Amino acid sequence: MSIIFSEREKTFILHTKDTTYQMKVDDYGFLLHLYYGRRTEGCMDYLLNYADRGFSGNPYDAGADRTYSMDVLPQELPCQGTGDYRSPAVIVKNTDGSYGCDFRYRDHRILKGKYHISGLPAVYAGEDEGETLAIDMEDPVTKVQITLLYGVLWDLDIITRSACIRNAGGGKIYLEKAQAACVDWLYGDYDLISFYGRHAMERNVQRIPVAHGAHVIGSRRGTSSHQYNPMMILAGHETTEDAGSCYAMSFVYSGGFKGEVEKDQFNQTRALLGLSDELFSYPLETGDVFHVPEVVLTYTNQGLSRLSWNLHRCIRDHVCRGRYKDAPRPLLLNSWEASYFDVSGDSVYELAKQAADLGMDMVVMDDGWFGKRNDDNSGLGDWYVNEEKLGESLGSLIQRVNDLGLKFGIWLEPEGINEDSGLYREHPDWVLSIPGRGPVRARNQLVLDFSRKDVVDYIFGKICDILDQGNIEYVKWDMNRSLADCYSRETADQGRVMHDYVLGLYDFLERLIQRYPDMLLEGCSGGGGRFDAGMLYYTPQIWCSDNTDALDRVRIQYGTSFGYPASSVGSHVSAVPNHQTGRMTPLHTRGITAMAGTFGYEMDPGKLLPVEREQIREQVREYKRHEMLIRNGRYYRLTDPVKETAGAWEFVAEDGSEVLAAAVVQEVHGNMPVTYIRLKGLPEGCWYREERSQKVFASDALMEVGIPLPEQTGEYRAYQMYFKMLES
Ligand code: GLA
Repeated sequence: MSIIFSEREKTFILHTKDTTYQMKVDDYGFLLHLYYGRRTEGCMDYLLNYADRGFSGNPYDAGADRTYSMDVLPQELPCQGTGDYRSPAVIVKNTDGSYGCDFRYRDHRILKGKYHISGLPAVYAGEDEGETLAIDMEDPVTKVQITLLYGVLWDLDIITRSACIRNAGGGKIYLEKAQAACVDWLYGDYDLISFYGRHAMERNVQRIPVAHGAHVIGSRRGTSSHQYNPMMILAGHETTEDAGSCYAMSFVYSGGFKGEVEKDQFNQTRALLGLSDELFSYPLETGDVFHVPEVVLTYTNQGLSRLSWNLHRCIRDHVCRGRYKDAPRPLLLNSWEASYFDVSGDSVYELAKQAADLGMDMVVMDDGWFGKRNDDNSGLGDWYVNEEKLGESLGSLIQRVNDLGLKFGIWLEPEGINEDSGLYREHPDWVLSIPGRGPVRARNQLVLDFSRKDVVDYIFGKICDILDQGNIEYVKWDMNRSLADCYSRETADQGRVMHDYVLGLYDFLERLIQRYPDMLLEGCSGGGGRFDAGMLYYTPQIWCSDNTDALDRVRIQYGTSFGYPASSVGSHVSAVPNHQTGRMTPLHTRGITAMAGTFGYEMDPGKLLPVEREQIREQVREYKRHEMLIRNGRYYRLTDPVKETAGAWEFVAEDGSEVLAAAVVQEVHGNMPVTYIRLKGLPEGCWYREERSQKVFASDALMEVGIPLPEQTGEYRAYQMYFKMLES
């Protein structure tokens, strides 16, 4: 049993294999947080301390006791208006216009299996893999109720948090903030690790000490964004990849978010993660229910590699779904960097022939095939096949591709619309824009109002009409701008639109995967602008970045690896000079870098030399041979590519039987010192043979000293080493 309630102490103890989470209902019915960390036993309410703290308010029912203050106590659900002046998880605006809520414990249930959340993505687990704790709380005055949901995945050291807010009172209220996860630490000093970026350079790693004040990350863009990823880590100052305490919080949501870490006046730390409270004022009529999107928590005292591994397993096995969750994914050739908008049936067919000849599985027709779409200024929203441009019907093209023994995939951007489109001319009111003002354009496009069911239904119908025209086995779902002037003509409550937009998106995606269960979806938002655990519930892989430069990808994939498994990382080999950076890197290096994800190509192989084509054939064979090790192996970051000469990583089979290690040398200088790539996570006292060199190494030596890379005589060389464990 992983969830224990002690009637005597009124404590809830959540155990996973190696962690413990504890909370307590106190005498006033507040739910106090006691502990989250390494696995331990016993009631830990001795950590609580009470003192008369100046300027810290006391709840009315504490009477004359000035030592009791929500401003100081660690809480599961800090609410605005209770005398806690730190950042709250929940803010309610009541019927009478007052702000504030005061939730007290009423009841709880311990349930088999992990809870689901209606209309939202969430971690799932079988009855024998997970347990749920539901704690019912109520504001005795307004009768607003909240059920806090805790999901415990024992084996994975994962605890999830969500909540369900019900307006059981009389009259309309507004949720002004609703965040699922708050972790309060009474003790300790931490670093915050977060992941910032920009289009074509996502998820750079920033590690800063948590100091007094609040550090806030988030997105007000309506998508999780290139700029900050909705995942953050709190780690001890001494914590490294291999040792030390660290916590991760990952938001299973694809819209605006807010992550806050605050060190308070008593050196206590609070971390919050959840919905952005800007442009958020969600109405709840009597009887209405609001589901708060989920946050995944994990802890380890074994360093950042292990923390990532916990998240990788959770997302790979308990968030991603569908036919391709465990099956090999089609190795694809995408038309974008090969021909951009200049696609035709013949150009795609030529790519397909190349792909077939080189051993790949699928050709993907990217942007440019529909409506009047010769550049990004027009056509978006007109979901009919431009047969004139293609020179044939979609069905005939797909058939021709299938006849080559190849699968066919297609690009879509269902949420976007150009003003120069039939759809916009017909339904100018279907976009998000403020009446009376010119709409904010980005990439010269607007955003459809996905908070409206009629809009979602219409686009869904149009997209199905396309997908029914042939054997389409893959969709790249793109979204190429941030939301800005987010006004919906269908509601009086504009504070709900940003969230309802995401619910509309999820509804569409859910319907799509139900209708086409065998189709593989790849998420995309100008590359990795919506790379989050929410999208991964629908699209088991996401195009990691529009930047296909191998060197930049080493860094982007390094940052991405902290929170997301390689199975989710779309990564392709592209042409040189690279279209984003102009850099020349060897084809071998591009191949090795792209193999740290779901592999494919993004170029016209017809333009290559025979020797390069042969190299691609070899890469395709190599990836297919190692795909399941890459997908299921334990991932280790072997270096920090921002600080070290080489970017290096490794996949180790869970039983240690095989290892795939890769290194990309990022700079070359005269008379260079030798770089050693030290392996990690191998069983001690074993022997391994490296395939290419046929040399035999002791696992301990590989982990202690590593493999010296050869002398560097060219730029950006890369090395991939495959080790097999020897019987004795
Ligand atoms: C976005 C995607 C690219 C490509 C283009 C098409 O930028 O990230 O991969 O699909 O759109 O317009």
